[in-house]
Amino acid sequence: MDERVTIQHLLKKKQARQKITMITAYDYPFAQIADEAGIDAIYVGDSLGIVVQGRDTTLPVTMDEMIYHTGMVSRAAKRAMVIGDMPYMSYQVSTGEAVRNGGRFLKEAGAHAVKLEGGSEVVRTVEALTKAGIPVMAHIGLTPQSIYSMGGYKVQGRTEEAARKLIDDAGLLESAGAFAITLEGIPAALACRITGMLAIPTIGIGGGPDCDGQVLVIHDVLGMFDRFVPKFVKKYANLKSDAVAAVIRYREEVENGIFPGSEHSF
Ligand code: KIV
Repeated sequence: MDERVTIQHLLKKKQARQKITMITAYDYPFAQIADEAGIDAIYVGDSLGIVVQGRDTTLPVTMDEMIYHTGMVSRAAKRAMVIGDMPYMSYQVSTGEAVRNGGRFLKEAGAHAVKLEGGSEVVRTVEALTKAGIPVMAHIGLTPQSIYSMGGYKVQGRTEEAARKLIDDAGLLESAGAFAITLEGIPAALACRITGMLAIPTIGIGGGPDCDGQVLVIHDVLGMFDRFVPKFVKKYANLKSDAVAAVIRYREEVENGIFPGSEHSF
């Protein structure tokens, strides 16, 4: 399929039991890699605060930064759907502010949808965004913007009560109009149960194999981020060590007068 992936395509994939693929990207070259690899949707996550900006949490990331990064990704994504992540405090204060900020992703940054974190507390916001024509992906379970309420990046939904709340939240978010739900850091059996009860797709990150699709951070997939590696990450390359080795060779060739050679000179 060469046409642009839409929320309708994602729904059809769930119905046909075909897995949905998502990955993050935060700039033009990485988004080109994801798009050329045939990924369904590129997620411009606020995880950029950690893997690109070198911060410890996603909380400081601003709307302007998200718009800047999402714009770069949209320019590269010819086929993949682009989903912009609403940063902390861009949607919590009021539904009006949420709609204004959500609209910026579509209007200024070329995104096709937004994502936000939370369960029952964001249901009204999801409704308002959807009514304004802004497709919304929800995100429950381990929600990094609530790191201080959760007491760290911990697996969620382990008790019966916590699992019940996630099941209820998923149903409410679907009824509010979310087109998909990210399930992060929850037991695989719970993710399977939620996936089975929803008509909309679930996208897992640390949610086990039964979600309708998977998402990972591209820097983790390519082995470009080694400050910490969550259990749910699988590395498919070691680009950081390859890149360091390449730059060492460059440095040594300059130091030893090997580069530039005559073929690189005028
Ligand atoms: O910010 C992010 O990248 C995310 C993940 C779910 C991929 O929210």
